[in-house]
Amino acid sequence: MSADSLLDVVPVMPVVVLQRLEDAVPVARALVAGGLPAIELTLRTDVALDAIRRIADEVPEILVGAGTIVRPEHADLAAAAGARFLVSPGATPALLEAMAATGLPFLPGTATVSEVLSVLEAGFTEMKFFPAEAAGGVPYLRSIASPVPDARFCPTGGITPATAAAYLSLPNVGCIGGSWLTPADALAAGDYGLVERRAREAVALESG
Ligand code: 3PG
Repeated sequence: MSADSLLDVVPVMPVVVLQRLEDAVPVARALVAGGLPAIELTLRTDVALDAIRRIADEVPEILVGAGTIVRPEHADLAAAAGARFLVSPGATPALLEAMAATGLPFLPGTATVSEVLSVLEAGFTEMKFFPAEAAGGVPYLRSIASPVPDARFCPTGGITPATAAAYLSLPNVGCIGGSWLTPADALAAGDYGLVERRAREAVALESG
């Protein structure tokens, strides 16, 4: 990983739900071409682990990770497929233990202050805030920055290009995650050009 922290690799982490294995490599290449060298493949489809494997083999310049780690055994499966980071929507003790045991960087998911404090107590300062919009969005994260300054977040869930910049301006946000870069209809149509354009726009958010 080029950055010290998973939250500092890209401003927007592309969260990808892949239906067709053959989209894996072109999508990864489109993201890299657009300036976003990271991808979170969600373990929500049958092809996800193979997609991680293929991207790890064929697009080594992208940091490929696994998202939607919802069972402890997912952590090892993802690591064995070549995932270089892990993301979970939650943070149960078993999930934390399984993700930590892989030795990979990972983001456990939190939505409440007590969950954030539990993750901090377990020794981890970086986490996903999920589902970001439904759980309180920008005002919520701004409210907890002062009482819980040690936690840094990747908010994900319901974020759009219109709301992205407000999240990125928060002191406790390192990056955000979203699926808008790889919409299902564009992937079904093989429109990788759209993925590249959206990646480019996402990179511009940071400097804008
Ligand atoms: C996730 O897994 O992080 C979310 O499903 C992504 O949320 P979005 O689809 O609302 O961007």
